Amino acid sequence: MKPFEIANDVFWVGAIHPELRLFDDLFLTKRGTTYNSYLIKGKNKIALIDTVKGVFVQDFMTNLKTVCDPSKIDYLVVNHTEPDHTGSVLEFLKLNPHVTVVITKPGALFLQELTNSKFNVLEASDELSIDLGGRTLKFVIAPFLHWPDTMFTYLAEDQILFPCDAFGSHYYSETGMFNDTAGDFSEEFTVYFDALVRPFKKKVLLAIAKVKDVPVKIIAPSHGPIHRTNPQQYVKKYQEFSTVEKLPNGKKSILVLYLSAHKNTEKLTLQIAAGLKTEKTEVKTIHITEMSLDQIRDELEKADGLLVGSPTINRDVPKPVWDVLTLFQTVSHELKLVAAYGSFGWSGEAVKMIEDRFKSLKLKTFEPGFKVSFTPTEADLAKAREFGQKFAEAILV
Ligand code: FEO
Repeated sequence: MKPFEIANDVFWVGAIHPELRLFDDLFLTKRGTTYNSYLIKGKNKIALIDTVKGVFVQDFMTNLKTVCDPSKIDYLVVNHTEPDHTGSVLEFLKLNPHVTVVITKPGALFLQELTNSKFNVLEASDELSIDLGGRTLKFVIAPFLHWPDTMFTYLAEDQILFPCDAFGSHYYSETGMFNDTAGDFSEEFTVYFDALVRPFKKKVLLAIAKVKDVPVKIIAPSHGPIHRTNPQQYVKKYQEFSTVEKLPNGKKSILVLYLSAHKNTEKLTLQIAAGLKTEKTEVKTIHITEMSLDQIRDELEKADGLLVGSPTINRDVPKPVWDVLTLFQTVSHELKLVAAYGSFGWSGEAVKMIEDRFKSLKLKTFEPGFKVSFTPTEADLAKAREFGQKFAEAILV
């Protein structure tokens, strides 16, 4: 795709990747993506915001040379160092070794290690301001959106916010690169949030608070359509996506997720759930296969406490339970206490394996877990209820 102006003398000079179907080997991208890089010409200075993924360096260089001589660029602003935006930095530095790289402190360290080269650094901060001649660049440090190095760049006079990966979409459309020409990308916008940004909901709210009074006419993210029509709707969506409702009056929400091959773990679940119930706790019990992983992920984010019940199958935790235990990298949870329990037939490794998983995630684990061989007796059921009661007492401390 050829360069185009998003505002007077502000050019998109990125690359498109329509055929991409899996981003970072992790996330489905049904509609491909774009790597957005922007060039800003002031009266005296020129700034480039980000580069593109390394395999597209030639497209990027062609675009860049169409709008300016790369050796004349004064500033390379690196909003974030993930290789889909810095993969062409090394080639760019060969053309322009004297450029000043504007970047956060952690970003400078990451970029040095990514490129194994030396470059001039100007450390970005909320106070930094760069005069390009009639145009001013300002910066908003926004760590963990979604890397520790992330920042937003703001072109003050034009009121354009370049928020790095935030407010982006993995989406490419032949019909246009703006939100009013690209067609419906609402699904990709949401999927993108869930895949990349969701684990950092609190950081999203902090970043939005920092820019809430900043007038913005255009939001130009690092991927997908550029928002020039009602850009605030995307900020509002991030605000909604990132707000998690908690129970009032200090009540604790306890989630019980379980799987039960022969109804024995289910019998324990009923007793544990009864033991968990107090005036200050609300308990939700979910059979893992009766809810989608997306729904379980939502429930995890609301919970203060979590218990996972599982049988042991062939000395292992069954796959549906493992699938739940992999959700933690995709959620912003606030779990204060977790535990494992289950009925087993032969060897009963699952409870310990789930506890090990919790501990490897640094979750505070209520131990020892509770396990019963085959069918629980009346005494086992009483102990299960007591296990629930003790867990509730511990989380209410
Ligand atoms: Fe699009 Fe986090 O890089």
